Amino acid sequence: MVIVVTGASGLLGTALVRALTEEGHEVVRLVRRAPRDPGERTWDPTAKEPAPGLLDGAQAVVHLAGAPIGRRWSAAVKREIVRSRIDSTRLLTEAVRRTATPPETLVSASGIDFYGDTGEAVIDESTPRGTGFLAELCERWEQEARKVPARSVQLRTGLVLSRDGGALGPMLPIFKLGLGAPLGSGRQFWPWIAIDDWVGAVQHVLRTREVSGPVNVVGPDPVRNRDFTRELTAALRRPMMPIPVPRLALGLALGDFAREALLSSHRARPKKLEDSGYAFRHTRLDGALAAVL
Ligand SMILES: NC(=O)c1ccc[n+]([C@@H]2O[C@H](COP(=O)([O-])OP(=O)(O)OC[C@H]3O[C@@H](n4cnc5c(N)ncnc54)[C@H](OP(=O)(O)O)[C@@H]3O)[C@@H](O)[C@H]2O)c1
Repeated sequence: MVIVVTGASGLLGTALVRALTEEGHEVVRLVRRAPRDPGERTWDPTAKEPAPGLLDGAQAVVHLAGAPIGRRWSAAVKREIVRSRIDSTRLLTEAVRRTATPPETLVSASGIDFYGDTGEAVIDESTPRGTGFLAELCERWEQEARKVPARSVQLRTGLVLSRDGGALGPMLPIFKLGLGAPLGSGRQFWPWIAIDDWVGAVQHVLRTREVSGPVNVVGPDPVRNRDFTRELTAALRRPMMPIPVPRLALGLALGDFAREALLSSHRARPKKLEDSGYAFRHTRLDGALAAVL
């Protein structure tokens, strides 16, 4: 298959492009600069109209591009986070419409944050949207992706475990110093997934035509933040700080990002992945952390 990937230089894009290429697909990376090799095409995700031929030859598109979320959200940062996702998704769906032989599938990023803070409730893809900046962003992002005249899959990704960055990126140096501690009450569920399962899940949805709409891309065993902290300190053979980081301190340092991403609870199930036969490589956090680290 010829597969076009946006955000290919990112944490998830890099791992996905490598795996798709190894699987024998031809991958075309859309980049925001001049192309450096024949596998790249330039695109401008802020453009009003797609460049002619942007998606020519593609059977599938995987759209991962978006400005980073893991930082303090000023009004300008929020605008950048929203525009880089909504406008680029709109541009791609228009490009699909204008392609003579259009791609059959658009797989587009979204987040488990769609559900807002759901506390102790077990959630799956039928759970309605929650409240908050990220929940509203995910809804708008998914709505744009669903306008494509093709099969549309939205990846409601949880916390991806990778040695190379993502959520573990800022945590590892702190934990290696022996300063790892639960966040807030530590009772909030973190829906983790190892990066090789994230890649495997995307390969699975690309080849499984019956799967469409939102898909929770999370492992089958979400754990509470305090258990995550304990497992990570054990994997690194470091002590766990006995005192949690107070909500107030997190809020002062990171604002709404702390409240919506770090302190929110998502006891999410990967119902559609399981129902469609995806076999997880990592079902337990200790094994996943050992593999990732
Ligand atoms: N990692 C996670 O745990 C996680 C969890 C939930 C959802 N997601 C979502 O999944 C997608 C990929 O995640 P990731 O961790 O791979 O992200 P990432 O490492 O931050 O990479 C995102 C890529 O998007 C492109 N990009 C950056 N700023 C942009 C902007 N202002 N406008 C357009 N494109 C921009 C860049 O690629 P180029 O320079 O090549 O264009 C960048 O490498 C994101 O949309 C993210 O929100 C990730």
